[in-house]
Amino acid sequence: MVMENFSFQNPVKIIFGKNTISRIGPKIKAAGFNKILLLCGGGSIKKNGVYDQVSKSLNSQGIETVEVWGVRPNPILSKVREAIQVAREKNVQAILAVGGGSVIDSAKSIAAGFYLDDVWAAFEDKLDIVRALPLFTVLTVSGAASEMNQWAVLTNEVEKKKWSIGAEVLFPVLTIIDPSVQMSLPWLQTVAGAMDAIAHLLENYFMGADQETTLAIDEALMRTIIRMTDALQKNPKDYDSRANLVWAAGLAHAGLSSVAMKGGDWSAHGIEHGVSALHPEVAHGAGLGVIFPAWILYQQKVNPPIFKRWAKNVMAAATVAQAVNKFRALLKKWQAPVWLPDLGIKKTEIKAIAQNANGRGTLGNLKKLSLKDIQDILKLTLKK
Ligand code: NZQ
Ligand code: ZN
Repeated sequence: MVMENFSFQNPVKIIFGKNTISRIGPKIKAAGFNKILLLCGGGSIKKNGVYDQVSKSLNSQGIETVEVWGVRPNPILSKVREAIQVAREKNVQAILAVGGGSVIDSAKSIAAGFYLDDVWAAFEDKLDIVRALPLFTVLTVSGAASEMNQWAVLTNEVEKKKWSIGAEVLFPVLTIIDPSVQMSLPWLQTVAGAMDAIAHLLENYFMGADQETTLAIDEALMRTIIRMTDALQKNPKDYDSRANLVWAAGLAHAGLSSVAMKGGDWSAHGIEHGVSALHPEVAHGAGLGVIFPAWILYQQKVNPPIFKRWAKNVMAAATVAQAVNKFRALLKKWQAPVWLPDLGIKKTEIKAIAQNANGRGTLGNLKKLSLKDIQDILKLTLKK
């Protein structure tokens, strides 16, 4: 066994549990901020009471709030630019994101863009992000783990590019996670989040045949996510299953799960970003559920022992093919999309998706994927 050298840091403070949202106002005040941008999605937080809890807590501290609504799933650049302008005009001191990955990723983009001439230039790797507004988050849907990491993904809807940024200054200062607010999620959104979290583990897992500690953590997280999602299918209001799913999903992409994994592979994510760049109606996790089984079948020969270990330890299957079948059966049981046409995407679109996915440079770390490799993986998502 060869233990790789690594560096690890996660500075995000987490406050977790029932009735914790009321602590956001005092925490922001204690950090020295009196005027903030409150960033929200399409309105779910008005229906489930989260907005009221947040507003009450902010008002109790006399924190002035500038609200921007309307961040959509698979968030877009024009909304971020609009919010940057508002943040500058109103001269806010910090950002509070209330929502899931889309709202938090947009908030990170705004936080960085506040100090940049053109935020998209950072996504194009034309400049480094060295400064950002401080970010606080109240999480309402888990999966992306943006609440616990330094990454953000955004779609340039004009150029149809779904690309990412990452910087140490983009870690949230504080995240509040009350799992009970996720009980209002549509079932398929819960599943999409679970699938996204599993995908974050898989992107790292297959890179690290020798990294025993990280492999063991990743296997435990994958098994937990599957068990908790199964339990929530029976009872979506089960707090303990919700809480364990939320926490496991956060840990799946907060640095711990990728220690010594050479940065992970991330090509399945790259392919999915090609899908959701062209089809923004596809939830990221739903796209990954379709792509990852095909990716595993295609890549297993690169490093057979680690794929067999996954089959045995996570899926309790004798072969990789059986494990992939079990995985697809699980998605079907969860009523999630299994094949590319289930996402409303036609076979004839495969080439365009592959070209889009390849647009930022070569995908893959376990193996560098050619355009043909990406197309061949996508062909395995077509039901025989
Ligand atoms: O907009 P509202 O009305 O709030 O509705 C949202 C949205 O429609 C709804 N929702 C959220 N909390 C709810 C709720 N509905 C009822 N009850 C609640 N408690 O859920 C929908 C989806 O929200 P979204 O934020 O899009 O979901 P998710 O957290 O899965 O984020 C997905 C985005 O994160 C990116 C993805 O690419 C995608 O754009 N990712 C970010 C990563 C990161 N920052 O590290 C890594 C991931 O790989 C991923 O790429
Ligand atoms: Zn993801």
